[in-house]
Amino acid sequence: MSHPTLNVLIIGCGNIAGGFDAVRAKDALPFTHAGAYRKHGGFSMAACIDPDMQKRKAFHDHWQVRQAFANLDATQHTTNQYDVISICSPTAKHAEQIDAAITLKPKLIFCEKPVTTNVADTLYCVQRCEEEGIQLAINHTRRWAPDVLRLKQELSTGHWGQIRSVVGHYNKGILNNGAHMLDLLRYLLGSLNLASVDKPVWDFWEDDPSIAAQLHSESGIPVYLNIAHASDYAFFELNITTERGVISMENGGLNWRIRRTIQSPDFKDYRSLGLGEVIDGEYSMAMTNAISNIYNAITNGEALASNGYSALQAQRLCEQIKVAALANNKKIRKVG
Ligand SMILES: NC(=O)c1ccc[n+]([C@@H]2O[C@H](COP(=O)([O-])OP(=O)(O)OC[C@H]3O[C@@H](n4cnc5c(N)ncnc54)[C@H](O)[C@@H]3O)[C@@H](O)[C@H]2O)c1
Repeated sequence: MSHPTLNVLIIGCGNIAGGFDAVRAKDALPFTHAGAYRKHGGFSMAACIDPDMQKRKAFHDHWQVRQAFANLDATQHTTNQYDVISICSPTAKHAEQIDAAITLKPKLIFCEKPVTTNVADTLYCVQRCEEEGIQLAINHTRRWAPDVLRLKQELSTGHWGQIRSVVGHYNKGILNNGAHMLDLLRYLLGSLNLASVDKPVWDFWEDDPSIAAQLHSESGIPVYLNIAHASDYAFFELNITTERGVISMENGGLNWRIRRTIQSPDFKDYRSLGLGEVIDGEYSMAMTNAISNIYNAITNGEALASNGYSALQAQRLCEQIKVAALANNKKIRKVG
């Protein structure tokens, strides 16, 4: 079996492109595109693009990329040269850059989340990629974390009994981080329907408030989206209350706390929850697995764990929540 080397173009040379790994131990599992391409070994970093000369140069030097360009125009005559294009630029640039990337005819585009700033643009990008036969992977990272995959299996096979309710906590924007949470919730529980929304809180982005909301799964499980404030600390956690215990993803998935039912040591004939254990999560393996999935998707048709359609569904919920919350906010202001 042959193992072709795939050429990569990386657009945007900031944190998720490589910066997060530039300051981590050399043998640490990668959190970034460049780090994971290098670790895999089946990719060659052919070119990178960033309008910021210093960032471009630092990235080019650190990751030993063959060529560096200031903008996409400079790649005009490089059609068919890149097998994979990673889009790691600011979200506002994604729509036009996916469009431009399509003209370079890669086999696959690996785009950071959120795909674009609105559902209409995301739908357009997803459809354009499909028309052109280009695979579209979206970095909803936890879809590649082995412990999240096992949890989905455990929840669906009844290992935890009935799921009673779920709470997802996030901050820094319903689209920016809420989409990660809604994608994770949809992955674990299936389709979600919006029941109600709370008021918008502008905790970081001007155009992307954080919003609490209540949703239901198709089987009626209540799902609460709760918020924190981005100026306090990064917060991305999940609590799943089940018949047999409470599963908590903490620290974005870097660790988990599992509490199981016990006979209460304090109250006769009561059952309660044990203090539980905190275990290391497998979030750190996600980016490695994402790049391996991308390699296999291109070379032997493996299905992508996170694609344009799954991201689109999460973004539709984000937009529904935002529209409803802004409308409520307007009404409250009028009454006030
Ligand atoms: N999947 C995740 O968990 C995760 C984590 C962090 C960021 N992100 C996403 O990744 C994207 C980038 O975020 P970041 O934190 O790396 O930001 P960043 O600011 O660290 O990096 C963005 C880079 O893009 C460059 N840039 C600006 N305009 C550009 C253009 N027109 N063309 C090419 N490059 C351009 C900037 O100079 C900068 O170097 C955002 O969409 C963000 O939401 C995802």
